[in-house]
Amino acid sequence: MCGIVAAVGREGNVVPSVIQGLKTLEYRGYDSAGVAIVSDGAIQVRRRTGKIAVLEEDLGQNGLPESSIALAHTRWATHGAPEDRNAHPHRDHLEKVVVVHNGIIENYAELRAELQEAGHEFSSDTDTEVLANLVASLLEENSGDLHAAIRAALPRVHGAYALVAASASDSDSLVIARHDSPLVVGIGDGVTCAASDMPALLGLTREFLVLENGETAILTPDSCQIYDPNNQTIERAVQHCDWTPEQAEKGGYPHFMLKEIEEQPDVLARTAFDRLHDAEGDVEFESEFGLDDQALCVFSRLRFMAMGTSFHSAMLGKLFLEEFAQLPGDVVNASEFLYSPKLKEGDALTVIISQSGETADSLRAMREVQSRGGKVLGICNVRGSTLDREADHVVLTHCGPEVGVASTKAFFGQLAALYLLALRVGRARGVLSQEQGFELLSDLRHLRPKLDALFSEAAAQAVQKAADILAPVNSCLFLGRGFNHPIAMEGALKLKEISYIHAEGYPAGEMKHGPIALIDDSFPVVAIATPGRTYEKMVSNIEEVRARSGAVVAVAAEGDEKVSGLADATLFVPEVPEHLSPLVNVIPLQQLSYEVAKRLGKDVDQPRNLAKSVTVE
Ligand code: M6R
Repeated sequence: MCGIVAAVGREGNVVPSVIQGLKTLEYRGYDSAGVAIVSDGAIQVRRRTGKIAVLEEDLGQNGLPESSIALAHTRWATHGAPEDRNAHPHRDHLEKVVVVHNGIIENYAELRAELQEAGHEFSSDTDTEVLANLVASLLEENSGDLHAAIRAALPRVHGAYALVAASASDSDSLVIARHDSPLVVGIGDGVTCAASDMPALLGLTREFLVLENGETAILTPDSCQIYDPNNQTIERAVQHCDWTPEQAEKGGYPHFMLKEIEEQPDVLARTAFDRLHDAEGDVEFESEFGLDDQALCVFSRLRFMAMGTSFHSAMLGKLFLEEFAQLPGDVVNASEFLYSPKLKEGDALTVIISQSGETADSLRAMREVQSRGGKVLGICNVRGSTLDREADHVVLTHCGPEVGVASTKAFFGQLAALYLLALRVGRARGVLSQEQGFELLSDLRHLRPKLDALFSEAAAQAVQKAADILAPVNSCLFLGRGFNHPIAMEGALKLKEISYIHAEGYPAGEMKHGPIALIDDSFPVVAIATPGRTYEKMVSNIEEVRARSGAVVAVAAEGDEKVSGLADATLFVPEVPEHLSPLVNVIPLQQLSYEVAKRLGKDVDQPRNLAKSVTVE
């Protein structure tokens, strides 16, 4: 999705800082990039299709003057093809105003027709150029006051936006506004900045404040004045972000995805360990969780909603809950919820899971639940995100910034958080005794050292052998049962996202009901067959695949000769209790998809057509 970075400083040239910030947003996915400055009463823009490196090359050849004000943008095409003329920033036809914008202006066509009638000319196909012209058309009647013109324009605009604008006549201030698309403000020393995502500003500051829906703000080098929807000024406390710029960098790894896969043992500690109260056999979340034993006893069911990888976490959230708390759980795809019949929420608690906390489908589902009188518990990784701020209750996963578009460590952190949640509910409802709670906690504590085996030389060689099987094929199947059905789905999603090999994840029992027709010697199957109540059934499924000449890549417990004897390649994992097997088994599948994508020469961290935060429905 699109990315915004803008800054206004007291002195010096902020262009390198905003370009650097844009680079930290590359992971969001984009097809063009641009930057604008205001200098000597004129707006200058450079924008190019392709990577930020192309823009930088252009800036090298057709440099911009140094400027203490700059607006930059990475665009992910919605209205109009990825071409230079459609890239942001956009100016109005008289070049009085410049705008960068994330989101979609739904009524842009009618606004454009109206503005054309009034003599405005357009050079792009974008909704953003319409916005720039609309604001410019209101500038004169607002005495040249850009903030006033934007406030006059916004009621006419339908849709979602985060925008930053500047006026040719003022090189000391930026105006920002937001509705349903995220925008954060960074308060630095003699520089004030804004971006769609915090990591983009970590090079300038670690002090932030968040702009809420319907608010606007004027940024100057030494101030950020926020206005509420009624144009009243608001004071907002600045928050410190403990993410370091280094956490958002590759740190010597060839790809963020590899770095993030290898960070997972630490994620376990960060998400879980401070919350474990071994003596009580219980879990204690921070105050923003806000649900005590009494509150947790009121709910008759929990509903888990999310998208993509987080949806696979949701599936496991239900399984953990039913296992540890004996409470029914539902799993609903967040984008489908909006269109389901509007039943009464009753005494359900909805758990919305989102790494970014900005996924449009998940946020809409949250608001829909709340509008029906239901309560929402958000599980997310980004403090200050919309989910963190708007959910009634929150558990943060503390994974650190996840940059690779293919989610790995955030998924792992979600699973750890959902395990803790189920345990907490089980303890609160008296389903789990103190001793049982203690055992589940100690299983989790003992998991961390066991994960080391997944990063050994032997494990890396096994991944290579499995990649020999998957890299040449066009299509394959991932099978798992019980706790490992969501992991089969996640393994398949990872492979298709970054290697573009078609892969589907199925509950293994479903294989005989259709997918088995696909199996031949060119169609391999990845089968998760670790110890547990479905082990024997998985072994039978593997036999069935082999009987049809399908190659088998197995995930099996270390030393399992039965499974490895049947498989063409085996990804051995340490043996752990069945309920923890998802946290172990997902790791070699992430490594496998990484290896296959790398061999095929794909862009591992920024796969085609994908975006890190999907902020449009
Ligand atoms: O930020 P979220 O967890 O809400 O994102 C949801 C999905 O867009 C995300 O998990 C997506 O499927 C990833 N590309 C998975 O690798």
